Amino acid sequence: MHLGQVIAAKLQRESARVEKARAEFNFRSIQALVPQGCKVLDVGAWSCYLGQLLRDRLACEVLSLDVVNANKTEMPFQVFDGKVLPVDSRSFDVVLFLYILHHAADDKPLLEEASRVLRDGGCLLIAEDRVDGLWNRALTAGFHIWLRLSTGMTRDGEFRTTDQWPKRFHAAGFEVKETIFLGHHLGRFLWPNNVLFVLRKDGRAGMR
Ligand SMILES: C[S@@+](CC[C@H](N)C(=O)[O-])C[C@H]1O[C@@H](n2cnc3c(N)ncnc32)[C@H](O)[C@@H]1O
Repeated sequence: MHLGQVIAAKLQRESARVEKARAEFNFRSIQALVPQGCKVLDVGAWSCYLGQLLRDRLACEVLSLDVVNANKTEMPFQVFDGKVLPVDSRSFDVVLFLYILHHAADDKPLLEEASRVLRDGGCLLIAEDRVDGLWNRALTAGFHIWLRLSTGMTRDGEFRTTDQWPKRFHAAGFEVKETIFLGHHLGRFLWPNNVLFVLRKDGRAGMR
């Protein structure tokens, strides 16, 4: 085997291990905010391991969506166009946008769609990398190079600082109920610093 193939195989093995650890990290981050037995839409679900944990541990009914098919589970999953969520209006209790907005070329249609598909009183949970300050920005940039090399995942969107996001959420008709600092991803000091926004519809129409 060539050295390149050895490195590629090693990166793939590490990436598979990280996907499961990542689902556990995401589950711990949102667990207290997801009601038992509720309907969850996981947008940008990648491996779909998180949906499996939500189903098995909280009896949630989960639909996972993504712009590519990287589903490693038997969970319900659909590919979509990255803009229009292919589900009925007011049909979900919780919508998850976990580390996806900086991958999307345009976050505005996704935020508007989240508002459309959430039931009254429903909750949108958005996790993002914190790029506040040069060090955090460098960690996030390095991590995304690693992601690209190990999974082929592309990124078309923008990183924003913790205080830049809320005005985009407000413009789509959401109120930020809570901002939770999650620390470094998977607790690894050299991985991005993460933040979770807990959002509810504020009753106004969105940007459309
Ligand atoms: C860093 S991964 C996050 C995956 C998963 N949510 C997690 O936290 O482990 C970013 C994900 O966003 C997806 N993505 C890229 N563009 C998107 C878009 N326009 N809408 C939804 N998801 C998108 C990618 O395919 C990828 O699955």
